[in-house]
Amino acid sequence: MLAQFPAPLKTLAQRGTRHLPAFPGRSPGAAGAGPAGARPVPVSPDFASGRALRGPAYRGGMARYGEFPGARPRRLRTSAAMRRLVAETRLDPAQMILPAFVREGISSPQAVSSMPGVVQHTRDTLRKAAAEAASAGVGGIMLFGVPEVKDAVGSQGTDPDGILQQAIRDVVAEVGDSMVVMSDLCLDEFTDHGHCGVLDAEGRVDNDATLERYAEMAQVQADAGVHVVGPSGMMDGQVGVVREALDEIGKQDVAILAYTAKYSSAFFGPFREAVNSGLKGDRKAYQQDPANARESLRELALDLAEGADMVMVKPALPYLDVLTKVAESVDVPVAAYQVSGEYAMVEAAAANGWIDRERAITETLTSIHRAGANMILTYWATEVAQNL
Ligand code: PBG
Repeated sequence: MLAQFPAPLKTLAQRGTRHLPAFPGRSPGAAGAGPAGARPVPVSPDFASGRALRGPAYRGGMARYGEFPGARPRRLRTSAAMRRLVAETRLDPAQMILPAFVREGISSPQAVSSMPGVVQHTRDTLRKAAAEAASAGVGGIMLFGVPEVKDAVGSQGTDPDGILQQAIRDVVAEVGDSMVVMSDLCLDEFTDHGHCGVLDAEGRVDNDATLERYAEMAQVQADAGVHVVGPSGMMDGQVGVVREALDEIGKQDVAILAYTAKYSSAFFGPFREAVNSGLKGDRKAYQQDPANARESLRELALDLAEGADMVMVKPALPYLDVLTKVAESVDVPVAAYQVSGEYAMVEAAAANGWIDRERAITETLTSIHRAGANMILTYWATEVAQNL
């Protein structure tokens, strides 16, 4: 009956007065009158018990079910089976990406003290870690190289036999068909000053000179067989330059995972230890200010225009608002990087017995996924994939 269509609205309007709308068969005199003739009637005891919702009283029930005691959201939380059935967000090994460090010149893995459970791998143990991740169903691996010798321009980052290029070859040979192999495309692991680019005469990071280094890095990494490069230095124009450099050597199929929104974050702290970083000072002149969200959408527009195949927000948990904004405005896959400091916080609290480690890990990853990330870089990738 079309005439009754506005009735639920009337019901809503009357909630505050604790009155029910009139409807045929319930309110004497109002039968057939429709909403125009609706007169408030007092709440009956039956309504309070829920019984008013049954029998001849039932009409257009949604609005009346839409309030307590008819509506009881807890029904959908009554059992593990029910919760599993109605879950909106599920984690899957395929969406996990394992960041891994490989260090030149070591004969056994070196623990990273600020990241319990994470090591700097030898080439050999990296292969094993990659194989373990692949057999757990992990979707990808992101490689970081730690060279023995660092210099002002990060020479090892563009040496075809540099540690990162060797590691790419190793891992592609080991698991190349079963997992996506990615490499960090940035100079900070290779420079003695620890900045993500080369410096000008005043000691500032020189954007355009750095782009030339990135172009070369992209080519040596692609030559080594990497499937995806991850330019992470936050230089303006980096995605476009990398795309062009790859295409120039016939590597059209190498994809770019752009570090689109990357904040100058205290949560990268433990990573410095993981790559033996020589950084003094900070990256505030090139990474984003934590105060800004809108700026990320500008970075996003530029990265997409330059040819990013996938985009990333980093860190993850402190920037879920940015992640959601980015995810809502793109038509490419979105990744989030749960960074070293996020990992360290959970591990440290768990080691002290202050939080339940496994539940906290699952909750952080679920939240990152719920906020909009299809893919998550996490140091827990293998462990989580094994337990899913
Ligand atoms: C840059 C890079 C960094 C991280 C990933 N890529 C360091 C930085 O930007 O300072 C941090 C990752 C983490 O903290 O886990 N090559």
